[in-house]
Amino acid sequence: MKKVQISPSILSADFSKLGDDIKRLEESGADMIHVDVMDGHFVPNLTIGPPVIKSLRKYTKLPFDVHLMIDPVHKYIKAYSDAGADIITFHPEATENILETINLIKSLNKKVGISLNPDTEISAAEAHLDKIDLILIMSVYPGFGGQKFIGEVVKKIEDLDQIRNSKGLNFKIEIDGGINFETSKIALKAGVDILVSGTTVFKENNGDLEKNIKTLKQI
Ligand code: DX5
Ligand code: ZN
Repeated sequence: MKKVQISPSILSADFSKLGDDIKRLEESGADMIHVDVMDGHFVPNLTIGPPVIKSLRKYTKLPFDVHLMIDPVHKYIKAYSDAGADIITFHPEATENILETINLIKSLNKKVGISLNPDTEISAAEAHLDKIDLILIMSVYPGFGGQKFIGEVVKKIEDLDQIRNSKGLNFKIEIDGGINFETSKIALKAGVDILVSGTTVFKENNGDLEKNIKTLKQI
């Protein structure tokens, strides 16, 4: 059976004690930490930037899975790398040259991801699937936690899984938005490897992180 990984989004954590919450996530079985970076321009919300990520780095050895919802993105890649990102994911709409941004991230020895919004087709990333480490499928329109899972993206996951198998590629499929104990199963069945979850991990079962992470991992 394949190994499911959980990348809890700290967007649903308590921002006044992010360090503690990240430590608790590590102790509770998280595989990586999903950091949502928003610029109030590419998406209608603002979150955190490199100085906060840098200050959080010392709280965990888990990889930082940094989801950049910023435009332009290319000129900020190095700052996020220096701050301690391990996986750097960007949206293709936010760069003038996708390949150059992929190569920049790789040159910094970081893993690279491309994120597809619900209305962005696979074709936006298809030429690069052999060069990237993961595809982040948005199952909500990015900007806010707590939104409802958009079921139409399941077909995109199945198609990507099929392309991956037929071409013998190794990229992981990660899903982000509206993941709960039901939608997690739908996504995993369609071919997802990594589940991002903010609301479910932090709020279900009175915030029992360990129980929520364990339950999400069940196929
Ligand atoms: C949305 C973010 C997500 C979000 C997920 O723009 O990219 O990572 O925090 O939150 P939930 O799990 O609450 O949908
Ligand atoms: Zn995200």
